[in-house]
Amino acid sequence: MKNELLIKMIEEFAVNEVKPLAYEIDRDERFPKETVEKLKEYRLMGLPYETTYGGAGANYGAYIDAVRILSKYCATTGVILSAHTSLCCFPIHQYGTEEQKEKYLTKLNNGTYLGAFGLTEPNAGTDASKQQTKAKDCGDYYEITGNKIFITNAIYADIYIIFAMTNSDLGLKGISAFILEKNTEGFSFGPKEKKMGIKGSSTCELIFNQVKIPKENLLGKIGEGFKIAMATLDGGRIGIAAQALGIAEGAFEKAVAYVKTRKQFDKPIASFQNTQFVVAEMKTQIEAARGLLNKAVSDKEKGLNYTESAAIAKLFCSKIAVEVSDKAIQLMGGYGYIRDYEIERYLRDAKITEIYEGTSEVQKMVIAGRVLK
Ligand code: CAA
Repeated sequence: MKNELLIKMIEEFAVNEVKPLAYEIDRDERFPKETVEKLKEYRLMGLPYETTYGGAGANYGAYIDAVRILSKYCATTGVILSAHTSLCCFPIHQYGTEEQKEKYLTKLNNGTYLGAFGLTEPNAGTDASKQQTKAKDCGDYYEITGNKIFITNAIYADIYIIFAMTNSDLGLKGISAFILEKNTEGFSFGPKEKKMGIKGSSTCELIFNQVKIPKENLLGKIGEGFKIAMATLDGGRIGIAAQALGIAEGAFEKAVAYVKTRKQFDKPIASFQNTQFVVAEMKTQIEAARGLLNKAVSDKEKGLNYTESAAIAKLFCSKIAVEVSDKAIQLMGGYGYIRDYEIERYLRDAKITEIYEGTSEVQKMVIAGRVLK
């Protein structure tokens, strides 16, 4: 399918299937299972992966557009798709054996399975190298003990990419990656987190009590886990940049529609220069963000290193998502502060984009590290 057709289809899907649920799933903090079923029907769960592995065979830019467009109407849906595609499908596609791809990637891509990624721990957030979850080599299997927090898609996922220490003496070179199936003995979940935004997405602790993972579910080589996590997050950060840009676009469209119809002093407030200047600033921020996002996408599609451009895109897109949605509320005045006008949700949803998949401070560490090395 040509990209323009695909984008039109995603836009229609987002307006008809995603937008109508956005208010309710936020209010009720409800995971939109029916949307995930529809993402599967529309073949959006494995957009950038080959059809031989159950994917849609589209390019990476089309997938990023999908996250952006969905997030314009519902940031929860955007992150469900992004965590699944970038954080679970990608590492299996990149580092998995042929057997792992056939067994897991095909079903993730065709939407039979939903994916998640478990790296963060109570004492290993920004310093992801300080993993305390342990994986003991027991011959035919690894035994995993520990826990992961703030995990997106948590209890609704079927397959998890898990990082654990196989040799603590080696520091970050002692971390390995594993593919874990949901119904494995000893694997359980903590209570659902109550969040400020993206309230429909499932966020929970993952708890491993002597969980047995078969040897063949080691992902990549032993000790390669940290690199796998970092490389996976490079792509994940492009996904979150797209989510952030989508939030900014959605807030902007709502504010523009409002200022054209809202009258004060007998004129639409769009006729006042203050409104015009704010609208111009918002538009400029959105287009600058789009340019940086496109650069990261283009670097990835060309096979160039995209660690830096992904970090730059995430840093900037998440910043303007917060600023643009804040400005949108201000333009809408008292109405902007009322939940039923569905604009305050954008600001609450935008905030997480500055935090997850590496805080803005982490993106600065990555960018400065590259510039100054
Ligand atoms: N790709 C491949 N390898 C990489 C890499 C990358 N992008 N970045 C670093 N590495 C490798 C380095 O080459 C190095 O290996 P060598 O020694 O062999 O060269 C090794 O990893 C260590 O690199 P650094 O010294 O740069 O690593 P560091 O410990 O200083 O890490 C950091 C720096 C950038 C802060 C990193 O720890 C980091 O990104 N932290 C944030 C973690 C994060 O984003 N967590 C979010 C989890 S997901 C989530 O949010 C939940 C969800 O479900 C959505």
